[in-house]
Amino acid sequence: MDKESLMLTIAVLGGTGKEGKGLAYRWARAGYRVLIGSRSSEKAVTVASEIIELLEGAPSVVGTTNRDAAEQSNIIVLTVPYAAHRETLESVKDLLKGKLFIDVTVPLVPPKVTKVQLPPAGSAAQEAKEILGEDVQVVAAFQNISHKHLVGEGGVDCDVLVTGTSKEARAEVLKLVEAAGLNGWDAGPIENSVVAEALASVLIYINKQYGSTHAGIKITSVDKK
Ligand SMILES: NC(=O)c1ccc[n+]([C@@H]2O[C@H](COP(=O)([O-])OP(=O)(O)OC[C@H]3O[C@@H](n4cnc5c(N)ncnc54)[C@H](OP(=O)(O)O)[C@@H]3O)[C@@H](O)[C@H]2O)c1
Repeated sequence: MDKESLMLTIAVLGGTGKEGKGLAYRWARAGYRVLIGSRSSEKAVTVASEIIELLEGAPSVVGTTNRDAAEQSNIIVLTVPYAAHRETLESVKDLLKGKLFIDVTVPLVPPKVTKVQLPPAGSAAQEAKEILGEDVQVVAAFQNISHKHLVGEGGVDCDVLVTGTSKEARAEVLKLVEAAGLNGWDAGPIENSVVAEALASVLIYINKQYGSTHAGIKITSVDKK
């Protein structure tokens, strides 16, 4: 496959779940080719057909294994529970060299998901960087976007903080944020991912406290040029 086609393909590992399916739907709707990755290719094929049905026949969503999806794309998104984060990364690590990796993982520690409990590396995204090594651009994004916003036509009343290992990688991901119909901000280096990851527990707490399901945040008083 040529480089341009690879760049237009997005692999969503764990794309069979709530958040991954929502992001896959949004990117497929924007014209990207999306590979849904799973531990089970059968499960991924089923979810891919559900997205195609939602999009009324768009042919650009394919279900496969996590490894196949990672191999066939230069942009790899991870949407699995934190408990499966390291294991999933280790299982595809050799296929990610020289590529762009986007971590959506929030390091929740059930049952206390309303309490911030970040890992020793600082954040899940920094842990991913340690696991994947210097050859992979690691960007953290979408941790504050509830899946409930993603499948559907409506606007999303929540911004996306994009942090990552280089300005170029963050700029690439900001394009994907926009393609998904969301408003993103370059929020700085990968170390800043602790904020978005920690904020997720705060938003879950607020949801519980006030009877909502998808609290969000917005950056104010900035004029985007
Ligand atoms: N849900 C949200 O609204 C939301 C919002 C922002 C961020 N996030 C973050 O995004 C990530 C995914 O959330 P989600 O709600 O989509 O999760 P989910 O639906 O519970 O799981 C996503 C996928 O992860 C895989 N998975 C589950 N358990 C696994 C295990 N033990 N080992 C390996 N793979 C496993 C499964 O894929 P297969 O069985 O197909 O392999 C599953 O479909 C989490 O880190 C979450 O904190 C979620």
